[in-house]
Amino acid sequence: MVDAEKLNKLGDLLVDQSVPMKARYRALFTLKNLGGKEAILNITKGFTDPSALLKHECAYCLGQMQDSSAIDPLIEVLGNKSEDPMVRHEAGEALGAIGLNTEKVTKALTEFASDSHQEVAETCQLALARLEWLEKKKQNLVENLSDNPYFSVDPAPPDANRDIPFLRQKLLNEEENMFERYRAMFQLRNDGSDQAILALCDGLKCKSALFRHEIAYVLGQIQSPLSIEALRVNLEDNNENHMVRHECAEALGALATDECVNILNRYLNDKEQVVKESCEVALDITDYEKSNDFQYANGLLTV
Ligand SMILES: [Fe+2]
Ligand SMILES: [Fe+2]
Repeated sequence: MVDAEKLNKLGDLLVDQSVPMKARYRALFTLKNLGGKEAILNITKGFTDPSALLKHECAYCLGQMQDSSAIDPLIEVLGNKSEDPMVRHEAGEALGAIGLNTEKVTKALTEFASDSHQEVAETCQLALARLEWLEKKKQNLVENLSDNPYFSVDPAPPDANRDIPFLRQKLLNEEENMFERYRAMFQLRNDGSDQAILALCDGLKCKSALFRHEIAYVLGQIQSPLSIEALRVNLEDNNENHMVRHECAEALGALATDECVNILNRYLNDKEQVVKESCEVALDITDYEKSNDFQYANGLLTV
């Protein structure tokens, strides 16, 4: 049992701007792993920070924790039009991840499903589709699906069809519904074969920034050297959306090869704050991947 004092100390570290971002990230993931109402309260403190990267990760963690006490602060973040769209996106996605189909949640998601920022609008549409899918699941109306080897709470279930050429085509089809394309993506990730990974790499050229960022995220989960080149290209593109560049950097950090470290070191001083901080965090993830730590942020339990 972790006492409230320890959780509050982690919360203080999370919002301490004099501390390097990588240490603040470790504090965040320690809070996430500890869980419970006090941990959630401390994570929500992060929403007052100037760093969009930190705030979006706070929202991500709250979604993964799947605790209903995070719903109100997440709705507030989603509805804050002066907030960075990357943070609002993650708040919307987290509401879908928590998976509670209450009136309050569907009202907020429906309102912002037509937001002027495409990544926010698409996220809310996806979250609503996930909630609908969960309702069907309750009634046993869903298919036999593959297991997620990464234990993340995903914005969509994997596709029921496991044929890679079919999934590739669906993934890359710009006319296809986004929830369906997400399903293809998650089945390709669960498959994890070289052919599936190469299809995902091709997806990094799709039109939707939201879609590209999620593909980079799943490539980070898979950690295959086959994706390094594609991730590098999107990270190095100054015209690419910062949410996508961020996710490419973190995926390269998880891959943790010498080549990835070299790439990340080149962007440690990027003009985009989100990219710069992502590279710092990504290099810390590399250190973690190379060590045999039981879990990311384990060391901070002694704070
Ligand atoms: Fe995201
Ligand atoms: Fe992210």
